[in-house]
This record gives sequence, C-alpha cells and structure tokens, in this order.
Amino acid sequence: MYPEYMQESLKLVEKTRPERLKKSLSGEKVFTPMTDAERGEVLTKFHPDYKADARRKIRIGPNRGENITLEVADLLESHSRINPDDFDLSRVDYDTDVLVIGGGGGGAGAALLARENGAKVIIATKLRIGDANSMMSQGGIQASVNPNDSPAIHYLDALGGGHFDNKPDLVRALVMDAPLVIKWLEELGVMFDKDSNGNMVTMLGGGCSRKRMHSARDYTGAAIMRVLRDEVKNHPEDIQVIEFSPAIELLMDEGGQVAGAILYNLETEEYIMVRAKSTIIATGGFGRLHIKEFATTNHYGATADGLVLGYRAGANLLYMDSVQYHPTGAVYPEQILGFLITEKVRTMGAQPVNKFGELFVFPLEPRDVESSSFIRECTERGKGIITHTGRVGIWLDSPLIELINGEGAIQKQLPAMYRQYNRFDIDITKEPMLVFPTLHYQNGGLEINDQCETKIPNLYAAGEVSGGVHGRNRLMGNSVLDYNVFGRRAGIAAALNAKEVKLGKLTLKHIKRYERELQEADIHTDKISPMLLPNYTTPEVRARQLTAHYEGTLR
Ligand code: FUM
Repeated sequence: MYPEYMQESLKLVEKTRPERLKKSLSGEKVFTPMTDAERGEVLTKFHPDYKADARRKIRIGPNRGENITLEVADLLESHSRINPDDFDLSRVDYDTDVLVIGGGGGGAGAALLARENGAKVIIATKLRIGDANSMMSQGGIQASVNPNDSPAIHYLDALGGGHFDNKPDLVRALVMDAPLVIKWLEELGVMFDKDSNGNMVTMLGGGCSRKRMHSARDYTGAAIMRVLRDEVKNHPEDIQVIEFSPAIELLMDEGGQVAGAILYNLETEEYIMVRAKSTIIATGGFGRLHIKEFATTNHYGATADGLVLGYRAGANLLYMDSVQYHPTGAVYPEQILGFLITEKVRTMGAQPVNKFGELFVFPLEPRDVESSSFIRECTERGKGIITHTGRVGIWLDSPLIELINGEGAIQKQLPAMYRQYNRFDIDITKEPMLVFPTLHYQNGGLEINDQCETKIPNLYAAGEVSGGVHGRNRLMGNSVLDYNVFGRRAGIAAALNAKEVKLGKLTLKHIKRYERELQEADIHTDKISPMLLPNYTTPEVRARQLTAHYEGTLR
C-alpha cells in the first residue's frame, strides 16, 4: 500500500496502462530504441561517470597519471593495515599449492577446478563461504544455446554493450565457455527453469539480440552459489576453507613473484601467514564504496579489497573509470533502498513510466543508457515521484507482467521480488514499484589475460575484481557467467602453474615501496586499506568512539 501523496500519480499509471498493454501485446516495440547518437547524448549528460568530479588522476602505482573513479583513487592512495617490520617472515602457518582469496562463486569455482587439476587449495574468505554478491544475483546467466544464436552473436552483443572497449580475448573466452558452464552447473545440481518438455527456458536481457538468459526463477545466484558451496564442502581433504579471515596484503618472494598472503582473523585478531605457489584474487566488487553516494545492490563485503592487494603488488588496473548503475534499485519503502529489482521484471514486460504514467524509454536499453534516461526523467524533465524522505524515482509498472504472461506469473517466476514487497504490504501484481538507479557493478578491475594471469608472476584474478571482459558496461547475466568462466579458468591455470613454481625467500618489500611512493607523491592521508567492512557511522559518532576508546570508556 503506497501513501496518500503517491495515489494521484498511481491513478495516472493505471489510466495509461491499457494503451501500453495493447502495444505490448501487438508484438511491436513498445518504445523506439535510441539511436547511437541519442545514447551518446544521454550518457554524457546524465550518467554519473561523466560528472566533472567523478574521476581524478591517481598519483602512485602502475596506473599513475590515469583518470580513475574518485573513491577508488582515494582507497588506493592509502596506507597498508600493517607495518612490514612487525612480521617474522620465516613463520609460515599454512603452505599450499593454490590460495584463493574470496569465497563467492568465482572463488568456489576456482577452488574446484584447481583441485580437479591436482592442487591442494585454501580458500580464505572475509565472511562465510557464499556470503557474496554471487549469492544475491537474481535474473540469470547468459549462454548461447538456441538454434538462432551462437557464441559469435553473444560476442557481438557483449562488445556492443561494452562500447567496444572489451578485451576481445576475454570476451571470446566468456562466450565460448558459456554453454559448457551451464552444463557443468546443471550436472552439479543447479535447477534452471525448464519448460514442460524439459528444455531450458531462455529469456531476453537488456542490449541482447537473442534470448539466452538462463535463470532459476529470480533466485539464480542463490541456486548456483548453494551448489558451488556444497561442492567445495564435499572435498575437505583437498580444499580447506578459512572463514572470517580476509587477506590484508599479498606476500611476495625475493624474485618478485607473489607467494601467498597475510590473512587477518576478524574474531581472534591474529595474523595468519599463508604461503602459496599460486594466488587467485576473487574478492568481487566495490558497491560498498557508495560511489557518488549512490545506494547499492551489493553485499556488505563488497569493499574492493582485491583491487588494493593486487595494485600494491604491482598489478595493472583496467577501466577503473567506469561504474555500473543498475536502472532499477528500490526507492520506496526506505528499508529496501538500493535493493536490486531484477532486469527480468522488464524482460517479462514491466515498463518504466514517469509520474504522469508516460512510458519514456525503451525498457531494455543497455543498462548505462537505461539508467541515464531514468536520471534525466527525474532531474532535467522533473517527472519523477518524490518520496517523503526527499528521494526520487520512477514507476516500474509490474502489473503488466500478469496481464501479458497470465495470472500467477509473478509469484511463479519472481517469487523473491513478490515477497520483498509483500512484507511492506505492496502487492506488485497490482501496484508498480518505485525505482531509481543503484550502484551495481565494477566494470573495471585488475588486468588479466584469458588464463586469468595478471602481469605479476603467480598472481591470478577472476570475476568482478578483474577488468576488461565487459568493457565499460556489462550486460545482464554476463556477470554470473564471468565468475564461472574465469573462476574455472583461473583454477586450472593456477593449479598447472603450482606444479612448476619454486618460491624464494618471502618479503613484504612491496609494501615499503608503496609507502615510499605515497611519501614521494606528497600524499598525506589517514586512510588505510583494504577497507574490509564499510563504516556507516557518522564522522561525529566515529570521533566520539575514538575519544571513548582512548579514555577507556568504550563498551
Ligand atoms: O537484473 C539482474 O537480475 C541483474 C543481473 C546482473 O547484473 O547480471
């Protein structure tokens, strides 16, 4: 039930619905997709990446002099959490072939394939295994399996969506491995949606020319992650999981190779030294940096830790000037601010309409274009709905889904979404949802090749922490695919590498070198990283906590 002050606008949405439905059922496009020129214009004027203060030059490290997202630059230009002189590097707590940093889908897939290729593996994760964005994804995973589709068409869609900035070898790997990944996941036990003949159901995603989205209703991430997590737990003899222990720095050897990591046990506050012949960073993205103060769909642990670890060790970053805002984040009720409303809602026929009930954009433009046009509608055109807390959004007209697909379609195919709103007495089969773009994905990241190698020996990266696969804009369903394809590839490459590697004496010289660079660039900051967990207290509360801490009165 929406409040009184929204009722007038809701009536207008209802009034225009029959006409919009008629067009939808007629099979013609409900709104003309934008031309390239129109897309370019809306992006440069309204996408947050193009704001004057969105980026700045980073002053240290391998990408020195390049423009990157401001909040990321601040995070990278910060001090280590440790003083290297405090560590006895002859003490090693664990020795392993492959260390996987991160317990999401990419990390789990990497561990499984490393094991299959003969490696002993440790997964170190900040929270519990599976506590990650992978678990939260909703809409699906792309793979070209239909007769009218092919990896080549999938390749072109991904490249177009990414503004042709994608690294071709990575896109090739993505689309070529995709059908294999679906088969692998199904054999492991993932229950994808099927029709009454037992064939996979496939749907369209924004910016895609063919139906190739495979989903498990709107719980796709949970369906996949649960299976991957169980499979990891099936092999305790080869895969050891260390939970609540984020990596806080990489270890290197005298020869400049990565040689494992220092973990920090969040419960006991002890350091754990893990020596590894190959190290895979699979720490996910950066939503909890709340870039440009946007709300986020991301998991609590998405604090860009892997970028910091890799960059301090000398790995390159790619496209760290590019941020993905998902068009449909919840705006009302406030309790679910920024939560994901899956693109599948629009795939199934829901339309974005303004406060007058007018459809103002083709519902399935690529995400950056769709988000920018929502922002334009709410700002320049002033046609958004303003909430009592001063937030603004547009309606996503979900009742159309049932009118197009039949009664019960929402509860059957979007049960998570239905429940999310039902808790607040909003029935999305009858009322629309109020939405605005929300920070969703890190388009850029650590630069890798198609074997997931960074330029630093023995260091690999997979999943959202890496950059290049999606250029400067990812399409729906290519992220779940990405962490599966590149998690698996990283696992194989890391296991093979571990068979050859000889490690030398351990060092933390790279941390000292980075600290020197900060001084030489005259950077004075009290920031430390990796961030590990977001801090939602206000500066005033933080100052009070600090005083209480020093006065010994903190409870
Ligand atoms: O809209 C969604 O379900 C999100 C999917 C994705 O980011 O790939």
